[in-house]
Order: sequence, then C-alpha cells, then structure tokens
Amino acid sequence: MNSELTMIPPARPLIGQEERDAVDRVLASGMVAQGPEVAAFEEEFSAALVGGREVVAVNSGTSGQHLGMLALGLGPGDEVIVPSFTFAATANTVVVSGATPVFVDVDPRTFTVDPAAVEAAITERTVGIQPVHLYGHPAPMDALLAIAERHGLWVFEDAAQAHGAMWQGAQVGTFGDGAMFSLYPTKNMTSGEGGMVSLARPETARQVRLLRNQGMETQYANEVAGYNNRMTDIHAAIGRVQLGRLPGWTATRQENAAFFDAHLEGVVTPVVVEGASHVYHQYTIRIEGASATERDAFAAALREEHLVGCGVYYPTPVHRLATFRTEVDLPVTEMLAREVLSLPVHPSLTDMDRERIVAAVNTVAKAGA
Ligand SMILES: Cc1ncc(COP(=O)(O)O)c(C=O)c1O
Repeated sequence: MNSELTMIPPARPLIGQEERDAVDRVLASGMVAQGPEVAAFEEEFSAALVGGREVVAVNSGTSGQHLGMLALGLGPGDEVIVPSFTFAATANTVVVSGATPVFVDVDPRTFTVDPAAVEAAITERTVGIQPVHLYGHPAPMDALLAIAERHGLWVFEDAAQAHGAMWQGAQVGTFGDGAMFSLYPTKNMTSGEGGMVSLARPETARQVRLLRNQGMETQYANEVAGYNNRMTDIHAAIGRVQLGRLPGWTATRQENAAFFDAHLEGVVTPVVVEGASHVYHQYTIRIEGASATERDAFAAALREEHLVGCGVYYPTPVHRLATFRTEVDLPVTEMLAREVLSLPVHPSLTDMDRERIVAAVNTVAKAGA
C-alpha cells in the first residue's frame, strides 16, 4: 500500500457553488416550504426525463413509490410482484400499504426481473408489478407491459437508480402506469433527500398530489386522508441545479464504465443487453462462483490493500430480511447476493483513480484465481 494514496470513495455527491447559491436564493425569499421552486422542478424534470408525463415531487423516493402505488389503488389483500434483489424500500412500500409483496427471481446478466418468473407468480390477488431498474440498467419493459396487459395489472417502475436510462429508445419512467426516481445524495442526481413520481394519467397524478398534502388541493378542504410527504423549495432548488448537470455526469459514468469494461480481468463485468442504455448508478462486477465470505474478502482487499472503496448492494435478498422471511426459492438472487461487488464509477473519478481501480481489481482477482 502506498501511504501517499487516499481512499477512493464508492460514491461522492457533487454539490457545488451553484447549489449553494440556489439554496441562498430560496432562504432569502422567505418561502421555504413547497412552493414555486417545487413547481418549476416538476416541470423541468418532466421535460428532461419522462417525455412530458406529469411529475409530482415528494420528500423521498420511498414516499414516491408508496403514494404512487396507493394512487393506483393498492390496498389490503392485494399482491404486488417485486424482485427480491433490490433495496428493501421496493417491498416495504407494498407492506405499509397493507398489501403483500410476492418475490420473484432476476436475470443473472442484468439483475432485473425475469418476465417468465413474473408471469408464473401471478395469482387472482395480483394487482401490479413493480420492476426495478437496478444499478441503472432498465428492466425489460416491453415483456413486462405485455404480461401486465394480458392479466389486467398495473406497472409501477422503481427507477430510484436509473435517471435517464433508456429501454428501446424510450426513457425509463415513461413505460408504467407510474414510476419513482430517488434523489438521495448517492443517487445519480440529488436534492438532499427527495423523490419524483411520474404518472401516466392526470387522475392518478392528482391523487398523488392529494396524498402528498393531507388530502388537500384547496387549503382545509381535505378530500381524502393523506400524508405530509411534501418536498421543500430548498430541496427543489438543489434538484433543479443537479438536473442541469445530470447529462454530463451520466456521460462520464458511461465513459468510466467503458474504461472498466475494456481493462478489468478475472471478474464478470456488467452486461448491457440489446435495447438498453445503462446509466451506471452502480458499476457492479461479479466474482463468479464466490461464496459471500470470499467476495467480502475481495472487497476487504480492495479497501485495505489498495484504498479502493466499494460496496455490496445487496448482501441479503429482501425476502430473507427479518421483516419478510418468505419461503421462496430464488437461486439467481441468492447467487448474486453472494457474488456482487460495486466499484466506484461516479463522475468525480480522475484518470488516476480509474487506473488504480483497474490495477487493484486485476491484482486481487489474480491472487484469488
Ligand atoms: C431500488 C431502490 N428503491 C427505492 C429506494 C428508496 O429511495 P429513497 O432512499 O429516496 O427513499 C432506493 C434508494 O435508496 C433504491 O435504491
């Protein structure tokens, strides 16, 4: 280990002077709760990322998927088909709506739901499918929409990690009845905390707006029992600046990924299937055939011997977490939970960082081979 080197972090939110100036502008205005900045952010996000579909801003991605699915009618007794290889919020939001997540397996190449597994999991209680565009690779939306149509189900896209990703030429968030994007600090763009919900139909968008604000469109004329899941103008002001910077950051993420694809050896690099445009929220390799202990040792060597930060998303499949403990056989999910490791791919990597990451991975892979 070279003592002059510093740790390359696995993620690095880029928040600069422009974001600070935007926050100052809002603070100086004296109007900090949901107001004109939120409205402008919704319009700009809609135009830039979901082809003009109506967008509603909320205080987190989790709130977005919760309110989005409630607006589609989700409630007690219903089942929603979800992957288990995801962040727990995907299933938590089904549970807190009184419904049951039904976990299915994923495609080992893309880490996204397997349409055949989705179709096999449909029962008379199934109301919807929630695919996840995991790590920034789009789920196979054409096949999923065809299944949904055949069985009369809605589709709600978990696009938390996939701002700007495309499937067969169209942006994610434009396929389903609804979709959610997270604006958590480590995501491809941030507002501090926040979420954006895109909706295919104006009546569902109105329902999300009502649920976001205690069921009110007009003050004190509450129409339904709702929540306070509003975004503040402070957060929206940050998000608006970040939205403008997103295309450049995405291009840099893709260039970093292409460099790794070309130079990494001894590990399985991410697959981009035909028709997909990947935005590399994570650049996730597989240590093929590894046990979880071997993968964790690989990660520890990268961190401790080479000062390369890395992360495991996600070490425990959601169906095995204490909250769910579902008896279901998901062999691909179990294998991926043992083998995956995400490398830094964020836009602030320098050329030297990229060289260091490649040298570190190739060295550790060779030592373990
Ligand atoms: C796949 C996935 N779904 C849902 C969420 C929830 O988003 P948030 O953290 O903004 O509530 C996240 C992000 O954390 C996520 O990665």
